[in-house]
Amino acid sequence: MSAEDTPRTLLRIEDRIAVLTLNAPERRNAIDLEMVQALHRNLDALLEEPDLTAIVLTGAGDKAFAAGADIAQLKERNARDALASINSSLFKRVEDFPVPVIAAIRGWCLGGGCELAIACDLRVAGASARLGQPEVSLGIIPAAGATYRLPRLIGLGRARELVYTGRIVDATEAERIGLVNRVVPDEEVLDAALALAREIAHNGPLAVRLAKASMNALARPNEQMAMAMESSLQAVLFDSQDKHDRMQAFLDKRAKK
Ligand code: COA
Repeated sequence: MSAEDTPRTLLRIEDRIAVLTLNAPERRNAIDLEMVQALHRNLDALLEEPDLTAIVLTGAGDKAFAAGADIAQLKERNARDALASINSSLFKRVEDFPVPVIAAIRGWCLGGGCELAIACDLRVAGASARLGQPEVSLGIIPAAGATYRLPRLIGLGRARELVYTGRIVDATEAERIGLVNRVVPDEEVLDAALALAREIAHNGPLAVRLAKASMNALARPNEQMAMAMESSLQAVLFDSQDKHDRMQAFLDKRAKK
């Protein structure tokens, strides 16, 4: 048993399985810079666990896995920040992590939250899960992997529809289009994800790691290029007036509420 919590995350390891929890439920686990740094620290620590077989990634509280990148911080980010690929680099680390990562999703899973979930190997959703990429409504694109991971996962036609409309889908539709692997009652999400992790842990540890490495390598020959392209296009949008106005409108609406 080892533990390394941070102000933004909780980390537990039991029976060679880690449970990593995004822990800002009052802000719907929105991903701010502090959370990104915390997750990097947690992943650093998990790399030091040679016997680890899987990670279950979840959000604290019953309202959200993660409601996206922190919009107040996002509004202040400029082209240079976009090119630094802050969230993108973290999510790529999740995708490349040596053992399978399973997202256990309840409630909102939007924007950067959905991009984090699709960087995971597998997704278990509760009936309350709501997933989507609403970035265009804020004048930006989902530039932490959705433009290249989402088409791979659910097909180009469906990915185009979700990204262009910003529409949010419920758990049933998410399962139907392959955005999540399975749907269970909300109170069973963590247990179902852990059961999946245990099923994986039963197998040859090296075999599972190498199966992941092989599928990753074969599935994404042009990922470096796609990532650079996505960040460059986002850089243009991060400095646009439209993005500034739309994010300000979101923040003003919140302040009034
Ligand atoms: N960034 C920053 N803060 C966020 C956030 C985000 N992405 N999502 C939620 N929060 C904050 C809210 O501002 C609010 O803070 P406050 O209590 O200080 O006002 C708190 O979390 C609770 O959110 P609230 O909207 O009251 O909860 P809800 O359950 O009624 O609605 C959402 C949840 C997710 C539908 C709504 O918060 C929302 O639309 N969030 C933005 C989603 C989004 O566009 N994400 C993509 C970003 S790229």
